[in-house]
Amino acid sequence: MLGKRHNPPVSRNARATYTQPMTDPNATANASITDLRKSYERAELDETASNANPFLQFDQWFKEAIAAKVPEPNAMTLATVGGDLRPSTRVVLIKGFDERGIVWYTNYQSRKGLELAGNPYAALQFHWVELERTVRIEGVVDRISDEESDAYFHSRPLDSRIGAWASPQSEVISGRGVLVANAAKYGAKFLLQPPRPPHWGGYRLKPDNWQFWQGRRSRLHDRLRYTLQDDMNWLRERLAP
Ligand SMILES: Cc1cc2nc3c(=O)[nH]c(=O)nc-3n(C[C@H](O)[C@H](O)[C@H](O)COP(=O)(O)O)c2cc1C
Repeated sequence: MLGKRHNPPVSRNARATYTQPMTDPNATANASITDLRKSYERAELDETASNANPFLQFDQWFKEAIAAKVPEPNAMTLATVGGDLRPSTRVVLIKGFDERGIVWYTNYQSRKGLELAGNPYAALQFHWVELERTVRIEGVVDRISDEESDAYFHSRPLDSRIGAWASPQSEVISGRGVLVANAAKYGAKFLLQPPRPPHWGGYRLKPDNWQFWQGRRSRLHDRLRYTLQDDMNWLRERLAP
């Protein structure tokens, strides 16, 4: 089954109670989690003030995230679904976007790569904590062209290019020494000119659904959803928070 290679072994009895109990809940973070709450008051997201085109709305919010110096504004959570229908998430970095979609780079043989090969539907989410904003994006994913992947690969620092060869991403390895040995091996082999590994490159998610969320006071948050229509226009609707 596609995607099985990297999925963790799951007990048939996964719903049963864990046999190893956690330590005293009063001594863990549980003791204070319920008291963590925050009022969101920084901004508003309005039908009239937002852009009718979600790409332009995203462009504006991304620029504002950069201007506000939020940490790693380019980090986004990517959700994929395996052949066993179990969803999984991880963080990746957006490396570009335009009307064709959102681009990131990774190992095509990784868990996410195998899951996308079996099911091209995926979801992305940005959470810009300091701006009290999230953006959710859903759509279909395709590999980008070899030329595009080559161009980006060769713009990366040398150690990152060697790293793409050295890490059999998502596979179980016997220890960190494997990575260090692989990096030394490929460094010696390719010197200053590592080619792009055939198993490494970019993906592009073509959005058909966007959601922009702005935290508001009293949990009455603003949420605008954009859905792609058959005529290729975007329908903008407000969702209850
Ligand atoms: C801030 C941040 C950025 C990351 N960027 C990438 C990325 O661009 N590409 C990538 O393959 N992994 C990236 N990772 C590592 C992934 O989160 C993940 O561990 C890895 O891709 C393997 O995921 P998988 O086994 O689900 O395929 C990043 C992690 C963090 C915390």
